Amino acid sequence: MTESSPGQTELPLGSAERPLWVAVVGSGPSGFYAVDALFKAEGRTVHCDVFDRLPTPFGLVRGGVAPDHQKIKSVIAAYERTAAHPRFRFFGHVRLGRDVTVEQLRSIYDCVIYAFGNESDRKMGVEGEELRGVHSATAFVGWYNGHPDFQDESFDLDSARRVAVIGNGNVAMDVTRILAKRPAALEETDIAGAALDALAESKVEEILLLGRRGPAQAAFSPKEIQEVCAVEGCDTVVEPADVDLDPISRDWLEKDAPPAATKNLDILVEQSKRGEGTHDRKVRCRFLVSPVSFGGEAGRVTSIRLEHGRLEADAHGTPRARGTGEFTDEPVDLVFKAIGYRGVPIAGVPFDEDWGIVPNVGGRVVKERGSEEPTPGEYVVGWAKRGPTGLIGTNNADSKATVASLLEDIAVRHAAPLPAGHEHRIEALLEENGVEFVTYDDWKRLDAYEVERGKEKGKAREKVTSVEEMVAIVRRLRVAARG
Ligand SMILES: Cc1cc2nc3c(=O)[nH]c(=O)nc-3n(C[C@H](O)[C@H](O)[C@H](O)COP(=O)(O)OP(=O)(O)OC[C@H]3O[C@@H](n4cnc5c(N)ncnc54)[C@H](O)[C@@H]3O)c2cc1C
Ligand SMILES: NC(=O)c1ccc[n+]([C@@H]2O[C@H](COP(=O)([O-])OP(=O)(O)OC[C@H]3O[C@@H](n4cnc5c(N)ncnc54)[C@H](OP(=O)(O)O)[C@@H]3O)[C@@H](O)[C@H]2O)c1
Repeated sequence: MTESSPGQTELPLGSAERPLWVAVVGSGPSGFYAVDALFKAEGRTVHCDVFDRLPTPFGLVRGGVAPDHQKIKSVIAAYERTAAHPRFRFFGHVRLGRDVTVEQLRSIYDCVIYAFGNESDRKMGVEGEELRGVHSATAFVGWYNGHPDFQDESFDLDSARRVAVIGNGNVAMDVTRILAKRPAALEETDIAGAALDALAESKVEEILLLGRRGPAQAAFSPKEIQEVCAVEGCDTVVEPADVDLDPISRDWLEKDAPPAATKNLDILVEQSKRGEGTHDRKVRCRFLVSPVSFGGEAGRVTSIRLEHGRLEADAHGTPRARGTGEFTDEPVDLVFKAIGYRGVPIAGVPFDEDWGIVPNVGGRVVKERGSEEPTPGEYVVGWAKRGPTGLIGTNNADSKATVASLLEDIAVRHAAPLPAGHEHRIEALLEENGVEFVTYDDWKRLDAYEVERGKEKGKAREKVTSVEEMVAIVRRLRVAARG
């Protein structure tokens, strides 16, 4: 927003007389934690308008967290408390870069906080990655969670028997568990209806879980690998030789490894003693294997070539995998790459191509990495700030840190009084831009609608999975609510 013009009485920004107006772009955990921190700022009066490209809030809590992890989604209760604040507004179905520009937001708000996450996936850059049947975990997760972007995906679960999941992070655990579970174990969740139907037809018998480093370096959490091992009707098979540690890993576990690494290893050692098991579904953990290419027939993936590796400590003592030059070809019918998410550039917002994030110093946006000169009034939080790592709770401390920078900056700022009707300027602008936005009350009605639809099927909720349908329902429910 423009500062005062000469002659106007300037008021301290963030005071009761001249409240601070903040636009937060993205309504996932990092956006909500930033709003919460702003509302809790002592002695400050702050208005927060939260924008999301989807008509639904909560980012990956709705579209990423696995449907069989309903308890984790209870974090939404905290976001609902934030949303109940009288100076909170939600503008859903508004995409920055399409429905509104950065300049337009900057003309209305004192500050903009980017909280738009990392919505794409990392590429492996290996031969055959474009074959049919090679999918990103991002697409699979979005599909089973009813994210509108991924409802046209199809995964040939009714014919694939042998599947590879690449990566040893928690997303790989989610994908493996959803593939390994019987549909009965998912039918009371909020899984997308179409995904539940497709999983009911699944012929998947064997899931190869491929880690490029050793079992001690796996990125998954102990609880997550334990859950995979505990899937009913499925055996998780770990080869004893794979958990017989090499000297580099042993040394690392003693000196530098996080506590979870020892726990993970203990779980895998225990699992290795169980052998093949008796079930007809298997998860086979393989370690020190890096996919180097995918083979195919008639455009479809049929095999994956793995290079075996050994560990070498890097300059910091962290074990890294080095290829040994030995290769194995494994026949596979489907592949899911769970090797990490990646940010997408948004018009008008600085973007670091190498890291896939908005370049920043402590949450203050800079034009490019290495610059120390912040772009005044622009901030970033969450995955857009630091890349695709961290649990939901990690974003809380991270958003607080960015908000602390913001509050420090405005502590010395004064601004002209706001013109009458300032609070309606964004609505007028969106209308002018032809945007049909969704308010928080609209979302609450859609939320109740989904829960009600779920009840009829014995599910936690039945999500609406198309943006057009969401907007049409919102419209209808809005009219009904007016009586
Ligand atoms: C598959 C998966 C499962 C996970 N499960 C767990 C779990 O069980 N437990 C746990 O603690 N953590 C889990 N995490 C991690 C957790 O979800 C993240 O730490 C967290 O969601 C990151 O928050 P964020 O706000 O930065 O991004 P997001 O949650 O991605 O939110 C970004 C928001 O920005 C919106 N947006 C994007 N672009 C635009 C635009 N141009 N204009 C307007 N809005 C836009 C998006 O629609 C979205 O709502 C999981 C992550 C993944 C990928
Ligand atoms: N239930 C939960 O709590 C939950 C669920 C899902 C996600 N999350 C969180 O969300 C964040 C993102 O999870 P994530 O699983 O996407 O990322 P992640 O934790 O960074 O794991 C990525 C995995 O992919 C591997 N990898 C990367 N590039 C590769 C390549 N080219 N070839 C082979 N393997 C490759 C990594 O191996 P290296 O280690 O060797 O790099 C690692 O095992 C994490 O913080 C995670 O904890 C939490």
